Amino acid sequence: MAAASSTSNSEALRRTAVDTALAALGLDDKARLLAGQDLWSLPALPAIGLRSLVMSDGPIGVRGVRWTAADPSVALPSPTALAATWDPALARRAGHLLAQEARRKGIHVLLAPTVNLHRTPLGGRHFEAYSEDPYLTGEIGTGYVQGVQDGGVGTTVKHFVANDAETDRFTVNNVVAPRPLRELYLAPFERIVRNAHPWGIMAAYNQVNGSTMTEHRYLQNAVLRGEWGFDGFIVSDWLAARSTVGALTGGLDVAMPGPRTVYGEELAAAVRAGEVDEKLVDLAVRNVLLLAARTGALESAPPAVAPADLPAPVDGDALAREIARRSFVLVRNEARKGVRDGARDGASSEAREEVRDGAGDEVRAGAAVLPLAPGTTVALSGALARDARVLGGGSALVFPDHVVSPLDGLTAALPEGALTYSVGADPSDELATADAGFDLTAVCRDAEGAVLATVPLPGGQIQWIGADLPEGVTHDTLDTVEITGTFTPRESGEHTFGTRGTGSFALTVDDHPLYEGTQDRAPGTDPLGAFFNEPVERGRLALTEGTPVRVSLSHRPGPGTGHPLKGVAFSLVHLAPRRDPDELIAEAVAAAREAETAIVVVGTTERVESEGFDRTDLRLPGHQDALVHAVAAANPRTVVVVNSGSPVELPWRDEVAAILLTWFPGQEAGHALADVLTGAEEPGGRLPTTWPAVLADAPVTATTPTGGELPYTEGVLIGYRAWEKAGTVPAYAFGHGLGYTTWAYDTVTATPDTVTVRVRNTGPRPGGDTVQIYLAPEPAPDAPERPARWLAGFARVTAAPGETVEVTVPVEPRAYQIWDEEAYGWTTVPGTYTVQAARSLADVRATTTVEVTDGQSK
Ligand code: BGC
Repeated sequence: MAAASSTSNSEALRRTAVDTALAALGLDDKARLLAGQDLWSLPALPAIGLRSLVMSDGPIGVRGVRWTAADPSVALPSPTALAATWDPALARRAGHLLAQEARRKGIHVLLAPTVNLHRTPLGGRHFEAYSEDPYLTGEIGTGYVQGVQDGGVGTTVKHFVANDAETDRFTVNNVVAPRPLRELYLAPFERIVRNAHPWGIMAAYNQVNGSTMTEHRYLQNAVLRGEWGFDGFIVSDWLAARSTVGALTGGLDVAMPGPRTVYGEELAAAVRAGEVDEKLVDLAVRNVLLLAARTGALESAPPAVAPADLPAPVDGDALAREIARRSFVLVRNEARKGVRDGARDGASSEAREEVRDGAGDEVRAGAAVLPLAPGTTVALSGALARDARVLGGGSALVFPDHVVSPLDGLTAALPEGALTYSVGADPSDELATADAGFDLTAVCRDAEGAVLATVPLPGGQIQWIGADLPEGVTHDTLDTVEITGTFTPRESGEHTFGTRGTGSFALTVDDHPLYEGTQDRAPGTDPLGAFFNEPVERGRLALTEGTPVRVSLSHRPGPGTGHPLKGVAFSLVHLAPRRDPDELIAEAVAAAREAETAIVVVGTTERVESEGFDRTDLRLPGHQDALVHAVAAANPRTVVVVNSGSPVELPWRDEVAAILLTWFPGQEAGHALADVLTGAEEPGGRLPTTWPAVLADAPVTATTPTGGELPYTEGVLIGYRAWEKAGTVPAYAFGHGLGYTTWAYDTVTATPDTVTVRVRNTGPRPGGDTVQIYLAPEPAPDAPERPARWLAGFARVTAAPGETVEVTVPVEPRAYQIWDEEAYGWTTVPGTYTVQAARSLADVRATTTVEVTDGQSK
């Protein structure tokens, strides 16, 4: 009680401080406070004791205000991975670490979490969102927001709302009927607002039903603030605010980034011209001041979390490793008879036996290929085993100070001499930011050619936006930037060089001029394209391994690029000579034949999954499928590790012994992988999204608008809801994931409010399981269309071998409700519901029924 009353007491003090501060501000200062002063911050107003509020992406780390490897951050696994843990408490601990990182970097607000839904598997940015299911998304998002805010740092739950794909994201009008809008897309936001009280929301780029989201009066003012009681600030997605009056009347508090925005001077002028009421400005300023008070940026107010109440310090490496191994989803784990002999003589047609862990099934967990037998020899292959892709691209990018690749992790964990490595297949047939072998500096010059600054560069990328410039340089004085230095090739052969970005370029390698010219931004393309667009090849040169050559890329940011941000963003890109794909595969196959176990790491590249574009297929790029087919034919104990943020097709999935999905696993990737493969730890993940066998099976795939519109014609049926309606069986069902022990579900009992399940660890080792509760309504002729089943609750259990545990999962009234637009409220659909206690949608272990009676609630 004492704690509660002191909390409400300090909330009252914050509100008083906000009132006093607001009363002391004139119109110009108020208007200024609602506009970014640069890429990441709002202006300080010392007269009222207000420090500059600083924001940063999000969601897997805290990048800080500088886009550079010189300012490293802990990189946790991708949001899809966090969702695959099905553990809101773990998400909360992730939040504690992120708040700690934010405080270390002087950040008040983390631009996260992303809680848009996996509406179609083609969404390019799905690695950054959680799930296709609104309940799971809302629960993980709640834990995350609670965790960050426990640490006194704000969040902006994003992107409000229906930013479920990237194609034409700045302009697309997503046409969504009231039921899917409420039951699917708004649902995670609503859950998080009600349960975690976020201090911020980010308004999306897109339109919903004809209004752009930054101006959406109905969704921002009426629903978010009015119905749900959201009391935080609404910030535009970067460059999403388009109109001064429209945005302010539509409920947008802050327009980012600055210095050119629709607020600031333009807002003050609009008030003076009588176009908008100053009272609305006051409402927005109040929201910003409250955020400042909560995060400790308003001196006269006690912060929401007193320093003494901050969470205990978190070890970033340990947490990244724990989340990664808890997120890995073992979708297949089989054995083949006589594998050791078979491996040696290359016999690939040995009979396989599936190890099932169903209740009542014969349990032979010991026969499965994973965990690896102690002392086994391993042939590891795949370019991503060496150059792990630990995070997704776009604004979510952070720069970890180290990355443990699968090769590093397995080398450390396996006895000396047990592991061999070969590339096998390299999916990166694309130019990538100059990195290995380059020793580079940036030289900044003014219009007379005088050097303003020289700074070392960790790689070939420059991204200096707003005030983030080398010391001694301003956007007004800077004329050209030259990336210059040496490149020492790792391989002899033809090396390819190129550029990314817009403006004029001059590229010289080893005294050979490779390119001189100007690259313009194509009209109507994504204004942030400079960060995500494809690199352009500018020339090739034959180079010799170990012989350094001089490299120079001179750049002048083009006038008239029309970019509203002041900045310098471009890259020197490079591609090493590619070896013959068949030769690479043959090498990996030879090694696999010699070893007892083969492990192949496959995955996506930054040209496949990133912010800024959607995918066109779900195939693994390059020759990775051919590699797996060939290795599986050579070694019956082949384990495939999939390194992708969201689903890919696995055409060889019945040919291999085991498949482990590892998402983008964060900086401790390799250690976590070794933990799980050796059996030191169990893989703990369950699929947060349906994994299709082939794209053609996926029921919802439209991401491209026609005439600017993208109708969500599938209504309330996305993800597994749509798969079940179509009657199509995916490769792996929602919720699926194996561990290293086996479980029996002995009993399930339920009331409409709670489901109690008794589960027993029937296997040989301690383990954890995720008990999933699905509701299946009895079909009724007059009932509105609903999915066949939906997730209504879940809980994680752990048990020792032979131990029985009982878990009670609450089920909320909302689980039985649909949105009734005519009555404008949630309405319970009465009837009989089958309650399923399951290990996945495809593995229901026990059922009972409940009777639900009528009722209406707002
Ligand atoms: C993204 C946001 C991000 C913002 C700032 C936008 O392009 O959509 O998610 O927070 O940039 O980097």
